[in-house]
Amino acid sequence: MPRRFLVTGGAGYVGSHLVAALCDRGDTAVVLDNLSIGHRQAVPDGVELIEADLADAAAIDAVLKNGPWDAVFHFAALSQVGESMREPLRYLMQNAGNGMRLIDACVRHRVGRFVLSSTAALFSVTGDGLIPEDAPIDPNSAYGDSKWMIERTLRWASEVQGMRHACLRYFNAAGADPKGRLGEDHRPETHLMPLAIDAALGRRPPLTVFGNDYPTPDGTCVRDYIHVSDLAEAHLLAVDAMEDGDIRWNLGNGAGYSVMEILQAVERVSGLPVPHTISDRRAGDAASLVASAAPALRAGWQPKFADIDTIVRTAFLWRQAHPHGYGN
Ligand code: UFG
Repeated sequence: MPRRFLVTGGAGYVGSHLVAALCDRGDTAVVLDNLSIGHRQAVPDGVELIEADLADAAAIDAVLKNGPWDAVFHFAALSQVGESMREPLRYLMQNAGNGMRLIDACVRHRVGRFVLSSTAALFSVTGDGLIPEDAPIDPNSAYGDSKWMIERTLRWASEVQGMRHACLRYFNAAGADPKGRLGEDHRPETHLMPLAIDAALGRRPPLTVFGNDYPTPDGTCVRDYIHVSDLAEAHLLAVDAMEDGDIRWNLGNGAGYSVMEILQAVERVSGLPVPHTISDRRAGDAASLVASAAPALRAGWQPKFADIDTIVRTAFLWRQAHPHGYGN
């Protein structure tokens, strides 16, 4: 039977890919987004878009009252680690504050399931091993801490009020819808893959590689890039898997690629050189972040686009076809 879901931030990068996955499955998605970061064009025709801000408690109440909702997916948030270190209180008030207000409204309106878009930025990482769910949590950034505050709020909503939840900690979301309908368009763009692709296409200045003196094989930072459509699938699975209890899943491919290896992948896929220069380290960057996604895999999650060239190809094709992203 088709189900009905509320998706906050459904006009954003990962949220829009989840909305597409829900629609492909025949479910009903309602998007709640203030369009400050998300794009109206990322919401498919036929999907209801409620333009509202999560700080507007009355508006959120009105939306949740109009249930029933099989689950609420919560993506809407500020998500730049660097920015959060310049404006920490804005991140805490907006991300954590809005998240808590939304959880409170969900409890009052008897929403049974809540899925949180969380992050690897929770973990305080020192080594280069795979990071499991129970690795020490000690966020290095206000962004990571704002997500951790929401995770902890969910714990109490579950223990005391019985609302089930899934906290999905993404490693590096990357790539674009394999059907070409959606892609990555952050403004400003700060992520490695879209910047490297645009540098190869000559649309941006040479890429700056932030540091080549890390304790990694080639000296540049290692990350676990996970295809955005595989992330979307994990959300669908989590809604059913939380029947058996609350969920905390780390979501990545368990394979690390250095910055230089990503540039090489962009060169292989595009057939173009990626002009780049080396600069100092960027504040707050960990040397290596690679997931152990064992619990998600045990629950049946099977990433389909784990191959790094496939991830880069989907991103490349979308950017090539959309020189201005979702804009004109
Ligand atoms: N990098 C460069 N040059 C650039 C941009 C990035 O060298 O112009 C490097 C970064 O230093 C880092 C790697 O490329 O080593 C990846 O950087 P991204 O900015 O693409 O992604 P991050 O790993 O910094 O952060 C991402 C998300 C966060 C999330 C985190 C979890 O943006 O929201 O993954 O791992 F918390």
